[in-house]
Amino acid sequence: MKTILTGIRPTGNLHLGHYYGAVKNWVELQDKYNTFIEIADVQALTDNFDNPDKVRKNVRELVIDLLSAGIDPSKSTIFIQSMIPEIAELTIYFSNLVTVSRLQRNPTIKTEIKQKKELFGNTGESVTYGFLGYPVSQAADITLFGGEVIPVGEDQLPLIEQTREIVRKFNSIYGETFTEPEPLLSNITRLKGLDGNEKMGKSLGNAINLNDTFEEIRKKVMGAVTDPDKIKKDDPANPNICMVYYYHKLVSDNNLNTIHDECENGTRGCVSCKKELIDNMVNFLKPMQEKRKYYEEHPEIVDKILIEGTKKAREKAIATMEIIRNKMKIDYFE
Ligand code: TRP
Repeated sequence: MKTILTGIRPTGNLHLGHYYGAVKNWVELQDKYNTFIEIADVQALTDNFDNPDKVRKNVRELVIDLLSAGIDPSKSTIFIQSMIPEIAELTIYFSNLVTVSRLQRNPTIKTEIKQKKELFGNTGESVTYGFLGYPVSQAADITLFGGEVIPVGEDQLPLIEQTREIVRKFNSIYGETFTEPEPLLSNITRLKGLDGNEKMGKSLGNAINLNDTFEEIRKKVMGAVTDPDKIKKDDPANPNICMVYYYHKLVSDNNLNTIHDECENGTRGCVSCKKELIDNMVNFLKPMQEKRKYYEEHPEIVDKILIEGTKKAREKAIATMEIIRNKMKIDYFE
């Protein structure tokens, strides 16, 4: 069985974009791969070092979201990044193998630095050493656990490429040690927000969270963007530019053709169409929310999953680190 390593930052609850873009895929893959899922709290801290409470709280929230969405701890090893000090150790050795300018040219980092400058001004102060180095730390995440296949969203491709470069460099200097990881994209790489925005996010208010209540779902769906040329209830419209239809396609597969045709023929009003979407969305999320409730009521089970997963991951990390120290000739007292 090949090994999958993937990671996710604990900065908030999962929304449908995370689900369709990544987690659904992980749930399918965990049957066929030796799967490691890292709760990337150290990486989350690169952006949230001044808000440790937020990261701490979201570790547990994220694990509950993952379990509710179908990640099975008997198939996937879920672990906490900060509890594996070998990742920090390997990050230091890897940091010699990448130049500062290469990191600054990494498309993902470049975009994120641009966003930071827009937020904090062009002082350069906003970009910390730790932030610039997170792709190096991510390379350590991947290689320490023998990650061969990395199922991620499109935005992560430059980070996987960065890892491949570091691996090549390491192997050429210290001898063949790691295999170059391959990215694996899911069918839906990026879900649009209910407002039609390409980016979905909590702060934009255009995302449905897996743990949203009926009222939250109702509010968000009622505000979704529809065909702007449809003025009256019985005007014919184009479902292909309507965000309500876009979401029907995800959660309403039983009568999708009817929805499409009625919209085009003008026999379907937007309000009733939205109401139908709300119902279908609620039904779609129901099994996940029931599971969430179970884990919320049994925090000791969540703890146990995290403790056991982290222990297993640590064993693997320690074993890999021994090989690395030997290759790098820093295995002094063995
Ligand atoms: N950078 C990823 C994100 O922001 C999270 C992550 C951390 C990751 N370590 C990883 C993804 C290792 C894949 C492999 O979503």
